[in-house]
Amino acid sequence: KEDEGGSNGSSGGGSKKITLGFSQVGSESGWRSANTDSIKSAAKEAGYNLKFSDAQQKQENQISAIRSYIAQKVDVIAFSPVVVTGWDAVLKEAKAAKIPVILTDRSVETKDESLFVTLVGSDFTDEGRRAAKILEKVLEKAGHKGKVKIAQLEGTTGAAPAIERAKGFKEIMDAEHKDDWEIVVTQTGDFTRAGGKQVMAAFLQSNPDINVLYAHNDDMAIGAIQSIEAAGKKPGKDILIVSVDGVKDGFVAMSEGKINAIVECNPLLGPQLMEVVQTVKDGGTVERWIKTKESDFMQDQAKDALPTRKY
Ligand code: AHR
Repeated sequence: KEDEGGSNGSSGGGSKKITLGFSQVGSESGWRSANTDSIKSAAKEAGYNLKFSDAQQKQENQISAIRSYIAQKVDVIAFSPVVVTGWDAVLKEAKAAKIPVILTDRSVETKDESLFVTLVGSDFTDEGRRAAKILEKVLEKAGHKGKVKIAQLEGTTGAAPAIERAKGFKEIMDAEHKDDWEIVVTQTGDFTRAGGKQVMAAFLQSNPDINVLYAHNDDMAIGAIQSIEAAGKKPGKDILIVSVDGVKDGFVAMSEGKINAIVECNPLLGPQLMEVVQTVKDGGTVERWIKTKESDFMQDQAKDALPTRKY
C-alpha cells in the first residue's frame, strides 16, 4: 500500500524539495497510527515530498518498498524495520545508489555500521527494565504477598521492541527477584488487540494461577483484559497489569483501574526525523542513536494525564 504526499519540484525558494521515502511497519496498534500521523504531518510541515508505504507487518513488503524508493531515486530513505535481521542486501543497494538510510523507532542487526546513518527511537531494553521496576511498585501498592506468577505477551517475533523489552525485564527479574518472580508463560500476541485477547485466553486455560500480566504494548493488554473478564476475573486486581506505550486507550483502561501501570514509548517521532533528514541532506553529522525521552505512569496519575494525551 503506497500513498504520496505533495509533489516533486521546486518549493518556491529555488531549492529542490526533499523527497523522502518512508516504509512503515503496518497499522497494528494505536502507537503505530500515532507514529504514522506524526510522520505524515511533520513531512508536510517541513515541505518534503513524502512517499509513504505500509508494509502490513511483512518484511518482504518493506524490502520491495525500499527497492522502489531506490529506483525512484529519492533523496533519503527512512523506515521502521518490522524485524531486526535480514536487511543487509537491500541496505547495500541503497548505499550503492548513494541514498542515505535513517532508521526510525526500531533497529536492525548488521555488522556493517555504514548501512544506516542513525536510529531515531526509544531504548526498548530500558523500557523492559522500567516495566520490572514499576511492577515492584504495583505489587507493593496492591499489598501482594507470595509468588509473582507472570504471563508475558510479547510483541512481534524478531522485532527489536519484543526482543529488548523481554531482555530488560528479565535482567531486573533475574538480578533482584530470582526467588519470588517467575515468568510462567510467554508468547507473542503480535502487538495487536486480537493477538492479546486470543493468547491471554489460552494462558488462562493453561495457567489459571497467573497473577501478573506484562504486555509489550497497550493494545495487547486491552485485548487480554477482555479475556480476563470473560474468565470471570478482575483485571488490575486479580491479575495486575503492566504494559508499554501510553496510548489514549491504555490511559482509559488505567483510569478504569484495569491496567496498573504504563511505561511510556513515545510515537511522535516525525519532527525529529524531519530535522535529521535535513541535516543529512545538508551534509551535517548526527548522533548514531537519537533517543526518545519518555516517562512512566501509575494508575493514580491516569485520570489527570488522560485529557492531555494527544494520541
Ligand atoms: O516499535 C514500537 C512498538 O510497535 C510499539 O510499542 C507497539 O505498539 C508497536 O506496534
